[in-house]
Parts: sequence; C-alpha cells; structure tokens
Amino acid sequence: MRTALTIIPMKRSHIRACDAIVAASEPWKTLQEKVDFKKYITCGQAYACTRSGSGTIEVAGFIIFTAEPVFARGGYLRAIGVAASLRGQGIGSKLMAFAEKMVSRQATCLYLCVSSFNRKGQAFYRKRGYTRVGKLPGLTSPDSSEYIYWKRLK
Ligand SMILES: CC(C)(COP(=O)(O)OP(=O)(O)OC[C@H]1O[C@@H](n2cnc3c(N)ncnc32)[C@H](O)[C@@H]1OP(=O)(O)O)[C@@H](O)C(=O)NCCC(=O)NCCS
Repeated sequence: MRTALTIIPMKRSHIRACDAIVAASEPWKTLQEKVDFKKYITCGQAYACTRSGSGTIEVAGFIIFTAEPVFARGGYLRAIGVAASLRGQGIGSKLMAFAEKMVSRQATCLYLCVSSFNRKGQAFYRKRGYTRVGKLPGLTSPDSSEYIYWKRLK
C-alpha cells in the first residue's frame, strides 16, 4: 500500500492524536508532563505529520519549534514525537529536516533540550549532527538533568 507523509501546521483536530503520542512516550511519561498543543497552535509553532493511504489520514507525529533566533542566534526545538508504531521509518528525521529548513531562514543554529534519561532521544539527535553543549541539573526533576544540544545550520 502506498502511503504519503505531509507536514502541515497543526490543527485543533490533531490534538487528540498528539496527546496520545505524548501520553505513551518518554520523556513525558517519566516527567508526568503534557504538552499544551493549543498554545503552540495559536502562536504558529506546532506542526503535524499526517500519513495518508487507502482513504485514511492519521497523525504520525508532531514537532514544535521557535524559528526566530531566541537565544545565541539560534531557534529552539521544543518537542518532537512520533507514534510508537511508526518509529524507525524516517518520520522523525523528516520532521527534523523540516524544522531545520524553517529555522535556517531566520537563525544560524538550533538548540534543544533532552532529558538525561532519554537515551534514545539523545542518540537520535547526535546522529542528526547535534552536540551536547550544556547541562541543567534538576531542571525538570530532582533525579535528572536536561542536556542542551546544539547544531549549526549554516
Ligand atoms: C525520537 C523520535 C521522534 C524519532 O522518531 P522516528 O520516526 O523513529 O525517527 P527515524 O525513523 O527518523 O529515526 C530513528 C532512528 O532509530 C532507529 N529505529 C529503528 N527502529 C526503531 C524503533 N522501533 N523506534 C525508534 N527508533 C528506531 C532508526 O533506524 C533510526 O536510526 P538511524 O538514525 O540510524 O536511521 C521517536 O523515537 C519518538 O517519538 N520518541 C519519543 C519522544 C522523544 O524522545 N522525543 C525527543 C525528546 S523531546
């Protein structure tokens, strides 16, 4: 079956599926946190990746980022998530490439935070050229740190 992936500004109708991704994924499970998708839709920072095939459209993943330089000439990647059943098929990489293209129009680099216990997330970012440049101990929980990662885009 042929499927097509499309990245579009997130709509309110996507929120339920994105909430389900968050509820089933690290780091949010451990941190017991939700993502306020409504807020990021309102400020134009949230995008959904939809997957269509055989007459159905489903939300495969999401990405939230600030494209303008908000810190040290860089944009900020706030969150990325892909439905667990669809991981390992390049959807996360496609979402990252989209964000990097959008950010590079306004900023020279991209920053993000990833939890110290989220080893898969760290490996994902490292493979895409991100380097750890800082550590925020105890920021989100007393037992973990947030690592700051950085990539030069141009
Ligand atoms: C990190 C995340 C967005 C990656 O999404 P993805 O669609 O699996 O990404 P890709 O398919 O592009 O790449 C995943 C890598 O893991 C490998 N992989 C293989 N099977 C996998 C699986 N079942 N699950 C995850 N990764 C898998 C892929 O081969 C790929 O490796 P590569 O870089 O050598 O190609 C996704 O794992 C996720 O939603 N994680 C939970 C949320 C999270 O940790 N977000 C980051 C911090 S906010």
